[in-house]
Amino acid sequence: MTGHIIAVASGKGGVGKTWFAITLAHGLARSGQRVLLVDWDLGLANLDVQLGLMPQCDLAQVLQQGLPLAGAITHFAACLDILAGSSGTGAISGLDAASLEILLDGVRSCADRYDYVICDLAAGLDQVVRRMAAYVDQLMVVVTDEPTSLTDAYAVLKLHGRDGDAGRGRILVNRAKSTSSGARTYATLSRACQAFLGHTPALAGIIRSDDHVPDCIRRQTPLFTRHPNSQAAQDVEAVVQALIRQRQPDRASCA
Ligand SMILES: Nc1ncnc2c1ncn2[C@@H]1O[C@H](COP(=O)(O)OP(=O)(O)OP(=O)(O)O)[C@@H](O)[C@H]1O
Ligand SMILES: [Mg+2]
Repeated sequence: MTGHIIAVASGKGGVGKTWFAITLAHGLARSGQRVLLVDWDLGLANLDVQLGLMPQCDLAQVLQQGLPLAGAITHFAACLDILAGSSGTGAISGLDAASLEILLDGVRSCADRYDYVICDLAAGLDQVVRRMAAYVDQLMVVVTDEPTSLTDAYAVLKLHGRDGDAGRGRILVNRAKSTSSGARTYATLSRACQAFLGHTPALAGIIRSDDHVPDCIRRQTPLFTRHPNSQAAQDVEAVVQALIRQRQPDRASCA
């Protein structure tokens, strides 16, 4: 199966990548898609913290002990498996190139068992992040309306265009005050891309700012479980359904 490994990236930190990656993965799984959610924030992995997970084995152990990657997969919910990082230890930050390729090959070899693999990337643009971004099939670049977030997202899209196929990068506006202000944020960034990079990245979706999001993170519970009817849940659901429609021809269900 091709085209189903998606990385959630940003540039600027703290824009909601981890929360969105979790919620997107959970939303796809609730629609019967088989999903593997991977913590690729190797320095400060915290996907397991947002979900209150205590995995028996994580990516650091896999790499340090030469274990098969599949052994670190934790089953979280129907259709949803998780490959946790090494929370708070920084044990595999600054991964060398050879270990990184082992990690990427391991994810690719597990990927065939899933309809989607959603990877939560670290903020920034270091060599490891760039290699990971170039490796995946699609990149969702999360942006908010803050100027620093916009400039950093532009830098990611620019580098990504240089490193690979520019068309794979899409923009996800998060923490929008309203759908129309989110559309303005997208227009600002996409205009800059068109003017200076010569292409307009597609819009992956607009997620409104919603107090239910920090609440579900504090409770270490996915938004679709705790607040399934919240605005942010509805917005992520729209992204989920759009992704599924795009891949309709080879759609499979685990339900
Ligand atoms: N749509 C939203 N509405 C309200 N708050 C949000 C929304 N999305 C994210 N947040 C808040 O933003 C904060 C950062 O989220 P998160 O940890 O997922 O960001 P990140 O991009 O993964 O950060 P880092 O770069 O440090 O990994 C969280 O405290 C969360 O509550
Ligand atoms: Mg994060």
